[in-house]
Amino acid sequence: MKDFLKIAEQACRESGQIQIQNLNQERQIEYKGAINLVTNVDKACEKAIVDLIQGNFPDHDILAEEGGGKRKDSPYKWIIDPLDGTTNYAHRYPLFCTSIALESQGEIVIAAVYEPNRQEMFLAEKGAGATCNGKKISVSSASTVNESMLATGFAYNIRETEDNNLNHFKKLVLSAQALRRDGVAAADLCDVAMGRFDGFWELNLFPWDVAAGFLIVEEAGGRVTDFRGSKFEVYSKQILATNDHIHDEMIEILMREF
Ligand code: IPD
Ligand code: CA
Ligand code: CA
Repeated sequence: MKDFLKIAEQACRESGQIQIQNLNQERQIEYKGAINLVTNVDKACEKAIVDLIQGNFPDHDILAEEGGGKRKDSPYKWIIDPLDGTTNYAHRYPLFCTSIALESQGEIVIAAVYEPNRQEMFLAEKGAGATCNGKKISVSSASTVNESMLATGFAYNIRETEDNNLNHFKKLVLSAQALRRDGVAAADLCDVAMGRFDGFWELNLFPWDVAAGFLIVEEAGGRVTDFRGSKFEVYSKQILATNDHIHDEMIEILMREF
């Protein structure tokens, strides 16, 4: 496992370097949907990550957002978001990260998230805790939503579905002490693990947005489920991640009619 974690960390650092070097350069932006962007930097980061992982573990599967890598029917699958926060990046809003997780027999066992502006490297290994820049981290102790700072986000299909989180946003913005929306799901999850946010929820995310952050929150002592409190699956469409103390109250609010 240590080798896997080392490569995940190295891949995140290489990706972060590409992001910082190109932040103020001209970039090419393409549209994957009405408001869903991809830049040449997303692609360059993904290529660097996939090359490094495949160079070290040629038999492993890869699931990467921009389609790089191959399916090989291995028990190991790397789940990669080369640039989480692409819209921020395209606007030069300095919060974005790389997220890399390793799934083994259906379980996330390794996680690395690197935010290059803050220079924060989050690492976790199943059963061994979570760290930020080498120091152990843990979730906050807030015990009510009223004293909590929460975070959420809105998926790219916000205009196409009624299940677009606006109802939950209304309820929780009126219940929490504060609510933030930074546009980087993996960093939001790490901020829950660090105890900066007390809770985070979002709908319609993809495995690469949440796989690493999920393990980092759990290993920092937090709880991650769907909106009903059932076991979280990285391929499912709901995520609720909290410091554990406010989890049941958040479920009650999410399930409440507005
Ligand atoms: C997006 C970010 C954002 C979330 C979106 C994601 P991307 O990922 O994580 O916070 O609200 O739903 O798609 O496209 O920047 O990698
Ligand atoms: Ca993402
Ligand atoms: Ca991305």
